[in-house]
Amino acid sequence: MKLLIVITAALITACAASKKADIDQPPVTETWQGTMQEIAGVMNTFAPIIFSESEFNDPDNFARIDRETEKLAKLALKIKGLHEKDFKNVDSDPSMKLIVSSFSKEMATALDGLRNKQRDFSRSVLRNATSLCVQCHSRGTFGPEFHQWRDVNDYSTLTRIEKAELLSATRQYDRALSIYMSVIEDPLLAKGKPFEWEKALRRALAISLRVKQDFERSNSILDLAIKTSEGPASVKARALEWKRVISEWKSQGTKGSGSGLVMARQLIRQANRHSTLLEEQMSYVTFLRASGLLHDYIRGKNSRQNEAEAYNLLGQCYESVQEDRFWNLNEVYFKACIFKAPHTKIAMDCYNRYEDSLYVKSLRSESRSGSLPSELDYLEYLRILAHSKGG
Ligand code: HEC
Repeated sequence: MKLLIVITAALITACAASKKADIDQPPVTETWQGTMQEIAGVMNTFAPIIFSESEFNDPDNFARIDRETEKLAKLALKIKGLHEKDFKNVDSDPSMKLIVSSFSKEMATALDGLRNKQRDFSRSVLRNATSLCVQCHSRGTFGPEFHQWRDVNDYSTLTRIEKAELLSATRQYDRALSIYMSVIEDPLLAKGKPFEWEKALRRALAISLRVKQDFERSNSILDLAIKTSEGPASVKARALEWKRVISEWKSQGTKGSGSGLVMARQLIRQANRHSTLLEEQMSYVTFLRASGLLHDYIRGKNSRQNEAEAYNLLGQCYESVQEDRFWNLNEVYFKACIFKAPHTKIAMDCYNRYEDSLYVKSLRSESRSGSLPSELDYLEYLRILAHSKGG
């Protein structure tokens, strides 16, 4: 009983202390938050099993795994329903529709896999679910942040990177960051698993630059990477360059540079001037920062033109930040841009980018022989919609 009171008190303080002073945070329905809490509750205890191959394949756990997966599938359907009913109040970002429906599709697929005895397949789908939580939450600075949400004693079986991912999924960004930092400063890991090491660095930056928009913090993450003795030289060279870019932003200051849209426009213009592959990699932090500004911007009230431009720029960000390229988020934003301001120059620009993206994709998927007629019809429909009346 006493323990229960302590836990409840801790939870209440954690939640109360966690609300940040948000900009333009639209009201979120109680049910949306409640459902999210339920999802997080399931994930919190289920994730250690999902992340461990042996536990997931232990017959003693089968009944529980089925039950938890079923719960997640139901909850995912519920948030899809909530979003359809009231998307303006939940979050009007056009990418939400895609992420929400992918989430429910993935959970249903995981359940199907279990029923068809494809356990490894289901595990990998479930494993991926946390990255969906992170992707959807870490678009910008909005939303609650939890500092100490639940006890994580149960996570002892997870690797540090898995732990950090789970903590970011449940919006405990400070705790996730400190784990990522412990990975970054670890010379053994840097030497033995350089890709993991770089992943930790990029994920930490995605939190510090996009979610927190904190230059100091980002700098200390980069310093740590540069100092780590066994870190791959190529990544360190990039880290040095990222640091230079961030200190330029710092010296320019954030005040007086206009709205998030104006700042993002300037940043992306600079980043697009880069032409070599190396320079493209350098612009990683620029696109992270720009996308954070834009995601915050589109949550406010804006003119159609500005909103369409923000979507256009977001599309460009998602096209460039490779490992963040989340299926077709770039295309989602280009399309949203056309619908936002049809028959304008900006819509035509978005259309051209959308078309380019489709062509690149069809060149990549060699198995497919050309587009389906219905796709071409749809493309023509978008082109007419985008076409500027003026010429
Ligand atoms: C489609 C996007 C999306 C996905 C996927 C998603 N969330 Fe959320 N989540 C949100 C939004 C939007 C909020 C509310 C943020 C705000 O208040 O502005 C939220 C809030 C939360 C909260 C805080 C609830 C509160 O009390 O305010 C938690 C915890 C949470 N999500 C956990 C999860 C977990 C765990 C997953 C993955 C298993 C997940 N979410 C997947 C969009 C998503």
